[in-house]
Amino acid sequence: MTATPRVLLLHGPNLNLLGERDPATYGSTTLRDVEERTTALGRELGAEVRCAQSNSEGTLIDHVHSTRNGDSGIVFNPGAYSHYSYALRDALEAVAGMGVPCVEVHISNVHAREPFRHTSVTAPVCQGMVSGHGVFGYELALRSVLHRIGEWRKEGRA
Ligand code: DQA
Repeated sequence: MTATPRVLLLHGPNLNLLGERDPATYGSTTLRDVEERTTALGRELGAEVRCAQSNSEGTLIDHVHSTRNGDSGIVFNPGAYSHYSYALRDALEAVAGMGVPCVEVHISNVHAREPFRHTSVTAPVCQGMVSGHGVFGYELALRSVLHRIGEWRKEGRA
């Protein structure tokens, strides 16, 4: 019998303000709503979702490392850290090497915004990136990471 996959839904800096922060760019859905909807979808898809948010780089790295204790994958919106945090990139690369895939999410279309947002240093070590689909992107990312977890299990990578 295959173990129920558990996915860490992780949010970086300023995403605790979802729903209040620049609604024209990020919409009116709150972080709590995103977490509840993603958890409910996980249940429908036969997966467990656990949620965390931090405004601190070190704490986010600790959350990424914590996936070694039984998480199967990560759905991660690193916020602005995705544009320059090599430390987070290294953490994601490390756990991917241990069989924990990550799908990166950006609510806004980062490629249609300021040039500094066009680069993601974390996306190259993720298995995919979803950007510009609003909060619907979390559904796409969850489905995608669960698919990848299934593939890695078949290949013996996870
Ligand atoms: C974001 C895009 C980032 O550029 C920005 O710094 C965020 C949110 C998004 O979800 O669109 O905080 O990750």
